[in-house]
Amino acid sequence: MTAPGPGAHLLVTGGAGFIGSCFVRGVLGRRDGTRITVLDKLTYAGNRANLDEVEADAEMASRFAFVQGDIADPSAVAPLAAAADAIVNFAAESHVDRSILEPAAFLRTGVDGVHVLLEAVRGEADRARRGERATPPRLVQVSTDEVYGSIDEGRAIEGDTLAPRSPYAAAKAAGDLLVLAYHVTYGLDVVISRGSNTYGPFQHPEKLIPLFVTNALDDLPLPLYGDGLQRRDWLYVADHAGAIAHLLAQGAAGAAYNVPGSAELTNRDVAVRLLGLLDKPWALVRTVADRPGHDRRYAMDGRRLAALGWANRVGFDEGLARTVAWYRDHEPWWRAARGGDWDAYYARQYAERLAASSAAEPAR
Ligand code: NAD
Ligand code: TYD
Repeated sequence: MTAPGPGAHLLVTGGAGFIGSCFVRGVLGRRDGTRITVLDKLTYAGNRANLDEVEADAEMASRFAFVQGDIADPSAVAPLAAAADAIVNFAAESHVDRSILEPAAFLRTGVDGVHVLLEAVRGEADRARRGERATPPRLVQVSTDEVYGSIDEGRAIEGDTLAPRSPYAAAKAAGDLLVLAYHVTYGLDVVISRGSNTYGPFQHPEKLIPLFVTNALDDLPLPLYGDGLQRRDWLYVADHAGAIAHLLAQGAAGAAYNVPGSAELTNRDVAVRLLGLLDKPWALVRTVADRPGHDRRYAMDGRRLAALGWANRVGFDEGLARTVAWYRDHEPWWRAARGGDWDAYYARQYAERLAASSAAEPAR
């Protein structure tokens, strides 16, 4: 089992999304000959413009190809897997609130889609055994801290029992279990990354930080769920993508790795800080009805990844300042991301909540 080095051909599924596009920009930006094919369904969250930087650079564009398609479609996946030295799977429905409203798509991509990718890798392992290719592709499955469930105290380690509590997290946990089962049963070369809450440029405005930044830029209310004292561990997107590239090269086959951000904050604290950077008033924050089954805290132990020589580079203050500046400077990007079904989604998720909202307890 050999990890692909410079000059390899990577299949990056979900590469037009937030973290996947950062990974593509970062890996092609190394200019070490690595080629990337992106397979992306272009759901509401996928955006080809996230890859403009790559397509506008002749040298990077010469090592890049884009295919629109579904990871749950074997006929789309098989030929791309046959041409790949490794597959990095970012494709997922990724928003917890949408998984509560309509779970089906989460299962199709997170369970069926991962299964299709694994079957394609298994087919390539058969081809390798027949001498039709040198080695089968390695598969990196991009997962999440949410598979561990709510961690009231301490930190989750990779061997902990998975205890997902939302349809999103359950679909991701099912994907992890399938990936590990295919390693045990068929000997496939797989690695799982479990990243914490990620933020940075190009994140769809449905997620907490970009929602609050863009709403504040428009002087719209910021809907804070419940008491706002839920805790998340924030990871800058370039660090998340960099850790995944590190695991692609260095991760042990069959292992999962936590990717913490090491910046644990309450949602209220996040709101305080981003309003400070934007010079907007706390009065924009509204307390609204909580998310059902809302996980109180995520926290992971990152020692297994650190032992591979990885360390994050961007602290929360710097990352948040960069993120706020990016949204300020890229209004056409986020206005476009608030197209499509945005108004219908926003009304369904927030109209009743905001109508019944109250002023948030003042920030200390
Ligand atoms: P995103 O929603 O921004 O991007 C997902 C991408 O996958 C989009 O481009 C979408 O078009 C594509 N996609 C969805 N279904 C597909 C399908 N069936 N076939 C092909 N493409 C499909 O998500 P993100 O925030 O970039 O997350 C990427 C991955 O990282 C996901 O697997 C997510 O579970 C995981 N993750 C995210 C976070 C976070 O905080 N955002 C944290 C940890 C892990
Ligand atoms: P989110 O960005 O949806 O990520 P996740 O649910 O995967 O952690 O939410 C981050 C936190 O912010 C989570 O505790 C829910 C909370 N939140 C709000 O309070 N209001 C909102 O409008 C959103 C989208 C999230």
